[in-house]
Amino acid sequence: MSNESKPFQALLAQRFSRREVLQAGFALAPLVLGGCSPTSTTGPSKAARGLGFQPIRGSTADAIILPPGYTYDVVARWGDALFDGVPDLDAARLADGVLLEPGAAELQSKQFGQNCDAIHFFALDPRGDRGILCVNNEFTDDALMYPGHAGFAGASRGAARAYVETHPQIVAVSQAAQGVSIIEVVREHGVWKRVKRSRYARRITATTPIEIGGPARGAALMRTTADPSGTRVLGTFGNCAGGRTPWGTYLTAEENIQDYFGNYALLQEQRGADDPIVAAHSRYGMWKTHSLYGWEAADTRFDLIHNPTEPFRFGWIVEIDPMDPNRPPVKRTALGRFAHECASTFVAPDGRVAVYMGDDAKFEYVYKFVTARKFDPKNPAANRDLLDAGTLYVARFDANGSGEWLPLVYDEKGPLNEAAGFRDQAEVLIKARAAAAILGATPMDRPEDVDVNPVTGRIYIACTNNDSRAAESVVKHYRGREVDLGPNPANPRALNRYGHIIEIREAGDDHTSTSFSWEVFLLAGDPRGGRLIASLTDATSESAYYAGYTNADEVSPIGSPDNLGFDRDGNLWIVTDGEQPDESNNGCWVCPTVGPERGRLQRFMSGPVGAEICGCEFTPDGETLFLSIQHPGSGGSVTEPISHWPDGPGTQPRASVIAVRREGGGRVGG
Ligand code: FEO
Ligand code: CA
Ligand code: CA
Ligand code: CA
Repeated sequence: MSNESKPFQALLAQRFSRREVLQAGFALAPLVLGGCSPTSTTGPSKAARGLGFQPIRGSTADAIILPPGYTYDVVARWGDALFDGVPDLDAARLADGVLLEPGAAELQSKQFGQNCDAIHFFALDPRGDRGILCVNNEFTDDALMYPGHAGFAGASRGAARAYVETHPQIVAVSQAAQGVSIIEVVREHGVWKRVKRSRYARRITATTPIEIGGPARGAALMRTTADPSGTRVLGTFGNCAGGRTPWGTYLTAEENIQDYFGNYALLQEQRGADDPIVAAHSRYGMWKTHSLYGWEAADTRFDLIHNPTEPFRFGWIVEIDPMDPNRPPVKRTALGRFAHECASTFVAPDGRVAVYMGDDAKFEYVYKFVTARKFDPKNPAANRDLLDAGTLYVARFDANGSGEWLPLVYDEKGPLNEAAGFRDQAEVLIKARAAAAILGATPMDRPEDVDVNPVTGRIYIACTNNDSRAAESVVKHYRGREVDLGPNPANPRALNRYGHIIEIREAGDDHTSTSFSWEVFLLAGDPRGGRLIASLTDATSESAYYAGYTNADEVSPIGSPDNLGFDRDGNLWIVTDGEQPDESNNGCWVCPTVGPERGRLQRFMSGPVGAEICGCEFTPDGETLFLSIQHPGSGGSVTEPISHWPDGPGTQPRASVIAVRREGGGRVGG
């Protein structure tokens, strides 16, 4: 009997014995970290430092709710002008069609983008009172921009495309509202503000020229009529979570690229399903006739008939230098192409850099990239192209609690060779999902953020949910390949409604290792009514498991974990995007990962109606937590808004970055 066909409880029972070993490791072997981690000499005893706030209850209010003694500043709203002489978005005129007027796209390209996601803070002074925020603008919620737009409802039947056919000018506006916004912020008398005339201010949009770096630069599949050399691409979009390199650059992750390209059915009709380009697009979920946004109706770059290879130029990690607005961003193709959620870096003891990444789609994988060369903290120029050479790995989770990082390396002898569909390393990277499947990677429940605890070095993977996870082993055709949809040791729950979090420890606490041990850290769900279990051996599909913490009165229910973050003491912060067990709005939670309060999850924040919460970025002093409030009012429209956050009654909802802090100062959460 294969692991995949064992029943849920048996799978978890196998894992339980391993959990005890791993926890003993926490007690007995404090990690001494190398590299540049600012907290590299801090052991788990410090990580056990308590959390001191009064947790909040879940809420459905159209508001930001925080514990007593906390407040927040709105730092940047969608449409705030970033440059001199540019007006803010006149949100009061959205229902009148202000974004349909001439010049709207030009303005939006100089304003803060919509639907903020990842946030990373780059301090400009030793105290971190001034800094640069790099913020992703993941997608546009068109119903919250244009009157009469139905949003995502009906897009698959061509509704969004029909709107573009009658209002083609919105394509340029939406393209300008996505990408990355770079702003400067300052803390004055404890209050955070955006610096209005900053030399760092920058917008990178779906049309900004971007260099292609790494093994896929110039590859045949990267070439288009507009760029026959395959070296320069216009723009980035679908920018979800991200990361920061040890050398001070920002990494933005291109996620849902399948939503942008139309006319797949026609392409398949013309070329046949077995055509390598058609098959590759199918594996990346690009089989729609009408894209989610309908851009193909007004911009042939997004029409697969006109530009069949354009999608290969998206789905990458893009590196941006926040200190130099004139330096072009670079797509780092060595890190593979998939629905990139994040890129979390960690310096290994020997100085090489590991980058952890999730592919957020059902039954996709978790990846790690390890640089070939070492990070040189004394020579910034030497690090500039460090991400262009190294090895990309994908994770296989074994039932005995061990795991392997499997290298995605072209080899003419196989398995990743021409017979398998890869003519060279560039094609292995461009079609990383197909390569990973051949190597036997473990299909996961939508891996979102993968982040490294700066204190312990352990890695946490947020598997947000997967309602397509079957109850038993069953191999089916799913998104361009055959895959077992049943439970596996690392994804044990059928119809995984609320998601889970996995904890990894690299072999020898070396982040360049090719093997690791792992554990289920948290099975999200309702801890009330006897569902909170102390050990995974007792689990059913309805159970909640909070790292073994058993006092249900002291933990807050959570569902759909998405982004993760850590404070300077190594506590795990979690923000959510999706269904909550108590039917409350999305929010922010925190728990220790070591010590007697490991898994004691407490709710810290509740967000406004319709929003998911993203970000989870702290200032170096731990006194500010930056969060993105993404798509408040989602489900409403400009004529019938269902949220009025952040500006209050009578106003339109606007996605915004907030700075959460204690009134009078002090460590957030402490
Ligand atoms: Fe954009 Fe996977 O969240
Ligand atoms: Ca996300
Ligand atoms: Ca993170
Ligand atoms: Ca999500």
